[in-house]
Amino acid sequence: MVESLNIVILAAGKGTRMNSKKLKVLHSFAGSTIIEHILHTSYALNPSKIIVVYGHQGEQLKAHLKDEEIHWVEQVNPNGTGHAVQCALPLLDENAKVLVLVGDAPLIQAGDLNKLLEHTSAVLTAQVNNPFGYGRIIKNMDGFISAIVEEKDASPSQRQVDEINSGIIMTTTTNMKKWLTQINTNNAQGELYLTDIIALAHKDNNSFKAVPVSDARTINGINDRVQLAKNEGIKQEMLRENMMLQGVSMRDPNSVHIRGFIDCGEDISIDVGVILEGENTIADDVTIGAYSIIKNCILGKGTRIAPHSMLEDVITQGDCDIGPFARLRPGTKIATKAKVGNFVETKKTTIGHNSKASHLTYLGDCEIGDNCNIGAGTITCNYDGVNKFKTIVEDEVFIGSDSQLIAPVTIGKGATIGAGSTITKDSEAGKLTLSRAKQRTVEGWQKPAKNKA
Ligand code: UD1
Ligand code: CA
Repeated sequence: MVESLNIVILAAGKGTRMNSKKLKVLHSFAGSTIIEHILHTSYALNPSKIIVVYGHQGEQLKAHLKDEEIHWVEQVNPNGTGHAVQCALPLLDENAKVLVLVGDAPLIQAGDLNKLLEHTSAVLTAQVNNPFGYGRIIKNMDGFISAIVEEKDASPSQRQVDEINSGIIMTTTTNMKKWLTQINTNNAQGELYLTDIIALAHKDNNSFKAVPVSDARTINGINDRVQLAKNEGIKQEMLRENMMLQGVSMRDPNSVHIRGFIDCGEDISIDVGVILEGENTIADDVTIGAYSIIKNCILGKGTRIAPHSMLEDVITQGDCDIGPFARLRPGTKIATKAKVGNFVETKKTTIGHNSKASHLTYLGDCEIGDNCNIGAGTITCNYDGVNKFKTIVEDEVFIGSDSQLIAPVTIGKGATIGAGSTITKDSEAGKLTLSRAKQRTVEGWQKPAKNKA
């Protein structure tokens, strides 16, 4: 009886055509790396074991994935996909299903892999316009696969076949062990082909089933940077389509980039050139203005972000206004009805309900209560060159323009700070505090004249 699932990811190829110091599977892809996308899809299948076969520059790969639960197998002197899986045989669980994934096809969908797992032995296949380079699926009368023939080994008539091997193959541990010990290198490339187990299975009356992929775009492998960019484009298209189907409107979908994971509600509107990075949760009715970058944020219902804003690790309660040209750095929390306007930078700062910092301000390590107005040009001086200190602004405070709040400092409830003040001590609640020189006119002052040569 088959009890568990083992996934074997083949990643021992050199990736020569990338022309890179970096291992192919570690190249950036939709917010992480090629291999991490494959791992993410693998986890969705709930496997009992994931085995990665590595070769060239394996240490780079291990170091990058040190926090993942992976069983590592080195393929010394790689000699084909069959050889790669042979290297993993000792690690396979008895009575398991074994799913072999190729390390360079990051668009594979968990739904398709689950369909494969409904069978004892199956290959994920695709019908393509240009089958060049792929293994061809040769079927017998009742639709089972009698063999997979590689491009270089195929006869002219076999090359006409347009159903191809995605590279993803599944059977049981018992079968894998039985058939993989019978393959040989008598082929055009002198390699051990994993695909040769298909004909052996057929001879055993245990043929593999061809399971067609639901979206042929998802089986494309990445061998060079052109294919990397094409795959990224397809991934972006799929992510955007998914968001749009969930209720997100995009003015120009092709210009929106998603580099991570999104949890989104309905009636969200995204303008051109927006980048969504990391893990974002976006509630209903949020609008994101053109050319904004949103990274690891939780945006509450009805948050409005005007163009050219940058938000990282920000939480908004909703129904608030941000930007244009706002820079909200990690640890910023914005309450309802609050406003953070143009050229305002915040960091580790809470802005209370209905409080406003509309222009040209730096707020760092700061807690602002409700119904406050922070005038243009206000700066929290939170750093003495060595340590950071906090500024507390209690409810109903008015800070006049061009003021500096030298932390640690507290502005009491309902206080007003006169414009142009440098506040070094706590300011009393309900009172006006100013700290600036009195205006005076200097009598008899002369404008400087230009020196004679
Ligand atoms: C393979 C299939 C082909 C299929 C195609 C789909 C075989 C013999 N052929 O061909 O039928 O249509 O994938 O993309 O399986 N790898 C190792 N060790 C090795 C060789 C390869 O780990 O010794 C890894 C590579 O890193 C890669 C994967 O296996 O991730 C596929 O290898 P590749 O050489 O690209 O196979 P293809 O010739 O494309
Ligand atoms: Ca390939």
